[in-house]
Amino acid sequence: MKDEAKSVHVSLPHGGGYPIVIEWGCLERLGDLFRRRSIEGGAFVLSDRTVWGLYGGAVERSLTAAGYGILERLILEPGEGSKDLATWRTALDRLVSLEDGATRSIFLMNVGGGVVGDIGGFVAASYRRGIPFVQVPTTLLAQVDSSVGGKTGVNHPGGKNLIGAFYQPRLVVADLRTLKTLDTRQLRSGLVEVVKIGLIRDASFFSYLEGNFPRVLALEEGTLGEIVRTSCEVKAEIVGRDEKEERGIRTLLNLGHTFGHALEAATGYTRYTHGEAVAVGTLCAAWTSVLLEMLPVRQYERIRLLLEGIGLPTKVPRAVTERVWEAMKRDKKFIRGRNRFVLLEAIGKARVVEDIDPSILKQALEVHLDEAPVS
Ligand code: NAD
Ligand code: GLY
Repeated sequence: MKDEAKSVHVSLPHGGGYPIVIEWGCLERLGDLFRRRSIEGGAFVLSDRTVWGLYGGAVERSLTAAGYGILERLILEPGEGSKDLATWRTALDRLVSLEDGATRSIFLMNVGGGVVGDIGGFVAASYRRGIPFVQVPTTLLAQVDSSVGGKTGVNHPGGKNLIGAFYQPRLVVADLRTLKTLDTRQLRSGLVEVVKIGLIRDASFFSYLEGNFPRVLALEEGTLGEIVRTSCEVKAEIVGRDEKEERGIRTLLNLGHTFGHALEAATGYTRYTHGEAVAVGTLCAAWTSVLLEMLPVRQYERIRLLLEGIGLPTKVPRAVTERVWEAMKRDKKFIRGRNRFVLLEAIGKARVVEDIDPSILKQALEVHLDEAPVS
């Protein structure tokens, strides 16, 4: 099959764009894919210890075979804790120290999950007001969502993803085979963003997931390819129409994320993965939709069953919900301002709703209280 046939293309609203290559085993021809895309210069690699330990050798061999030099490797501690300004600064310091007075071109290559991709994208956006970068996503979440669309950034103690930029990659290369080494918890977490695509845009894709999620969890090549490609197609189409989230179209991709981010923050970013927090957040958003009589209860039930079947949390302990609510109450937007939530009118149809009565949001959170005794 030709590369084009295996790729999804992101066409940006003001011209330009980039391919997302989705293939089983394509890491071996990474260097070749870079050449085809006319990526020039030496590579500055950003990765994390786990990912680089597993795939660093294959990546380096492929780049060397295609004639690329690796100028620097910055290998992070795995996890959300690395996604901060200190890491961003370290990467920039290393880039500056590579300067030797000679004109040389550098591109950044992010090999890893959403953490590496988000930081690396922001480093690329900031250095010399922008250098080219390539995303090589190795988690399901990164392959279906975070590596595509140019949202880059880091966390701040004041909030998640508070500092960042929209900055698009030159190329995304998703090797499905890398998912074989991902632990099941991360695989389940990534599936949330796939379910989200079905929920906001495509009821038949949601039904497909209901029937096929066990094949994804079993890493069946064809099914994995299908869900990654469909998710990327939908995301590419959305980014192509509303790159910078200015038209209320891209906003729909935030379904479940307001509750989800609050849950992550309230638990110190350690108790739940991003995907797990978004799973509970999606149910809170769906229940808010039920309370506002936008969504029939039986559709909420289908969403809950799918997330539960995948093995994601659908409830959280009382202490946690209380902390989430406290965090939301401190946010003036929720209480007095025009809060904004992505809600569902049906499976496959979402819309942004503003000014929701906080007591409705509180009820939606409380429905997801896990009253089981703590063991
Ligand atoms: P992650 O990057 O922390 O990766 C999860 C874990 O999996 C890490 O421990 C990592 O070392 C390990 N890992 C990665 N690939 C592996 C592989 N192939 N085999 C074995 N282990 C592997 O987490 P994530 O879920 O990929 O990304 C979460 C981040 O993405 C969050 O910071 C979130 O805010 C961000 N995000 C960004 C966007 C966006 O549009 N930019 C969208 C969604 C999420
Ligand atoms: N993950 C949300 C977005 O890319 O807009």
